[in-house]
Amino acid sequence: MATTRWPMLVSVSSPSRIRAATPHDAAEIGAIYDEAIASGVATFAAGPHDAEERTRWLEARSHRAPVWVLDDADGVVGWSALAPFSHREWYDGVAEYTVYVAARAHGRGLGGQMLDALISEAPGLGYWKLVGMILEDNAGGMALAASRGFREVGTHHAHGHVNGEWRDVTVMELHLEQAR
Ligand SMILES: CC(C)(COP(=O)(O)OP(=O)(O)OC[C@H]1O[C@@H](n2cnc3c(N)ncnc32)[C@H](O)[C@@H]1OP(=O)(O)O)[C@@H](O)C(=O)NCCC(=O)NCCS
Repeated sequence: MATTRWPMLVSVSSPSRIRAATPHDAAEIGAIYDEAIASGVATFAAGPHDAEERTRWLEARSHRAPVWVLDDADGVVGWSALAPFSHREWYDGVAEYTVYVAARAHGRGLGGQMLDALISEAPGLGYWKLVGMILEDNAGGMALAASRGFREVGTHHAHGHVNGEWRDVTVMELHLEQAR
């Protein structure tokens, strides 16, 4: 089962807590994902993502593609993930990160806590750099990355399409070993 392969993250301040995702979290992860998809600015993914689909997704992920969730007093209100950026071995140390917070919990510092936790866990998984691929118009995604010192690399034009429209994607990066 996927949960046993991923390290437990350090807890963040009470009452919120970041921990490795389990299949029991699949429905909440899917609901938070689908809510962000409906915003039209967060991802190219299309929903819906129900518990069964997200359970298969969790179980297919490798040791170096972990998923974590953030609990607060109301239950799961966010999830985060790392995944290898490329299949090429010389980019083994580069991960793409993902952070999603339920809309009802935005603006409380939870996204920042989850990204801080990813930054602290990534080197232990062999990653030396985190990359974020942020769609145009995603002010929250850009602000979150910038708040943690990510550098804007540039913008891919017409990099994918959502609802039939071509969309630009801005690349953000944070080197975990070199200060730049
Ligand atoms: C991006 C996201 C995770 C931010 O979560 P959050 O819990 O609201 O963020 P935080 O409260 O921790 O804020 C982190 C920083 O970003 C800023 N920020 C967050 N949302 C913002 C917005 N919509 N506009 C401007 N700034 C914003 C905060 O002011 C804060 O900056 P600071 O540390 O300098 O004060 C959330 O909006 C979300 O889930 N969006 C959908 C998924 C997504 O786009 N993820 C990013 C790409 S993986």
